[in-house]
Amino acid sequence: MPVLVVNVDHIATIRQARMGNEPDPVTAAHLAEMAGARGIIVHLREDRRHIQDRDVELLRSTIKTNLHFEMAATREMQEIALKTMPYMICLVPEKRQELTTEGGLECTGRESFLSDYLAPFHEKNIRSSLFIDADLHQIDAAAKAGTEYIEIHTGRYCDAGNHLEQRKELDRIIAGITHARKIGLKVNLGHGLNYQNIFGFQHVPGIHEYSIGHSIISRAVLTGMSEAVGRMADIISGFNNT
Ligand code: PXP
Repeated sequence: MPVLVVNVDHIATIRQARMGNEPDPVTAAHLAEMAGARGIIVHLREDRRHIQDRDVELLRSTIKTNLHFEMAATREMQEIALKTMPYMICLVPEKRQELTTEGGLECTGRESFLSDYLAPFHEKNIRSSLFIDADLHQIDAAAKAGTEYIEIHTGRYCDAGNHLEQRKELDRIIAGITHARKIGLKVNLGHGLNYQNIFGFQHVPGIHEYSIGHSIISRAVLTGMSEAVGRMADIISGFNNT
């Protein structure tokens, strides 16, 4: 059965807008777990634009499911991840100027670098995943690099402008999943998945995890709006300011 793993980066994005201490992604992670998330994902970016080192430490010591650590393949992140000991790491490309992770990791021609980079994680029994496009060459290269999992980038499918284009992207992802499974890789999916486009994968075999953040946080903000405004209105209506 596939499982949902929730990315709480954008709770931290809201917190960092004021550089304060709310909302706390650690609290959001606990609520996500209580609601059925089977794991929590954070991406500690080099520029620390949302998740902070403190969040990673607290999540590691307080969540009851599995911590997934998204990271760029840098020495700094390798040190932090090996100290944190998450359940799984997922290597992603990272550019300073991007709004979010734009494309998949380039694996072709970098198999031995990636293999060396992943080795200390495998020695410590930390699972590894590579975030890649549904491209057969990239999938072969990921397998050569020795990863157990890949996460197929679903962004192009999610951003497709019409049904035809979306179907084409879906078929490309399905072909990627089929190929990856044939060569022994386990497959996760993520990026841009929402309450509508997720249905495209309803009957696709061989998917371990769905990694979803933005659509869930967006919905949480709006579904919580009435309660939040109502509570503040109630407080103020009890005041005697005249
Ligand atoms: N998987 C990876 C590797 C990502 O970089 C992201 C975005 O941080 C996600 C999944 C989640 O994407 P979204 O926030 O669009 O659901």
